[in-house]
Amino acid sequence: MKNVLALRAAAGEETERAPVWVMRQAGRYLPEFLEVRKHHSFFECCQTPSIAAQLTLQPIDRYPRLDASIIFCDILVVPQALGMEVLMEPSKGPVLPDPLVTPADLKKLRENVDVQKELGYVFEAITLTRKGLDGRVPLIGFCGAPWTLMAYMVEGGGSKTFEKCKSWLYKYPEESKQLLTRVADVCADLLVGQVLAGAQMLQVFDSWAGELTPYHFEQFALPALVHISKKVRYSLKQLGHPEVPMTLFAKGVHSPSSLALLRPETIFYDTIGLDAFLDPVEAKELLGGKFALQGNFDPVILYGGKEGIEKEVERVSKRFHKAGGGWIANLGHGITPNVKPEDMGWFLECVHKYSARK
Ligand code: CP3
Repeated sequence: MKNVLALRAAAGEETERAPVWVMRQAGRYLPEFLEVRKHHSFFECCQTPSIAAQLTLQPIDRYPRLDASIIFCDILVVPQALGMEVLMEPSKGPVLPDPLVTPADLKKLRENVDVQKELGYVFEAITLTRKGLDGRVPLIGFCGAPWTLMAYMVEGGGSKTFEKCKSWLYKYPEESKQLLTRVADVCADLLVGQVLAGAQMLQVFDSWAGELTPYHFEQFALPALVHISKKVRYSLKQLGHPEVPMTLFAKGVHSPSSLALLRPETIFYDTIGLDAFLDPVEAKELLGGKFALQGNFDPVILYGGKEGIEKEVERVSKRFHKAGGGWIANLGHGITPNVKPEDMGWFLECVHKYSARK
């Protein structure tokens, strides 16, 4: 490995500068991505290992300042592996035409998911990508968190109010927990398969964690997240494979009591990803301990112009330096489609400059 900065920061080390990568770094803001998408549907890109590897490498080839790559895939491959149909509609995003309406629908889900059979293409893509990376930067494997996936599976797509999936928690708490555990089992198997195929770090995306009250986050979302981290660590140990650092990105979790629950020693994640609406110093005080934070530039910074980007990177870097411990620089959520590729390049340049510890 030529660049292990992200691995060192994930181990809690205060590195000489922050390693940087960007959530959704392979995607619609890149002309080379749009060119490939003209010829292939979204899930065809995910399911064809050579295309997924090519798309994963696009931002790495374009931006030598990136310190990590993330496999091109989607969180919704887990509902697919459970037997649900998922479509990606051009202006709507994901659509699941046959959602789970009541617990009676749980029987429609596949009982024992063989991830090798259903998601073997992800593992192949990872192995191919590692070859293409040739040790330039570590490769991150990922999955969606059970609560976020349950939201899509019950809502049938994105939502503004989340009323269907949240009402499951009130109406059918036991069945909701069963569903979350079933999803978590597939997520864990997917992550283990990714590590065995060559992923060197893992991230779990709980994009809709912030839709829950602190109570429901603790009762429903968190146990499923811990089920994943424990199962992944246990399985790797059984297989005699070294552990890999795991990041939890629980977007919108801001209440002090919820953050206090995310201490790495209790949930078995090494790095906590922050969205843009938390101050790193405050978050670190609540989370406690010597471990890594990831984040948390507002994605809109990339529309802020050269000077605006530079000033904000300088400001946020100071906060992470003050927070102390490992820092993996990232946005607080995914990069958005209208970003100009040169502004992303400038952002990375600024992070290299201002995250340096003097
Ligand atoms: O980070 C990367 O570059 C790796 C690839 C990746 C994608 N999706 C590719 C993608 C990752 C890590 C994801 C995660 C993902 N997918 C999340 C969690 C992160 C977050 O943003 O909160 C969620 C909620 C999804 C579900 C999803 N997939 C949505 C809501 C959409 C539509 C909106 C959008 O961003 O376009 C997708 C589609 C998707 N996933 C695209 C890409 C590149 C664009 C699809 C296209 O090309 O038409």
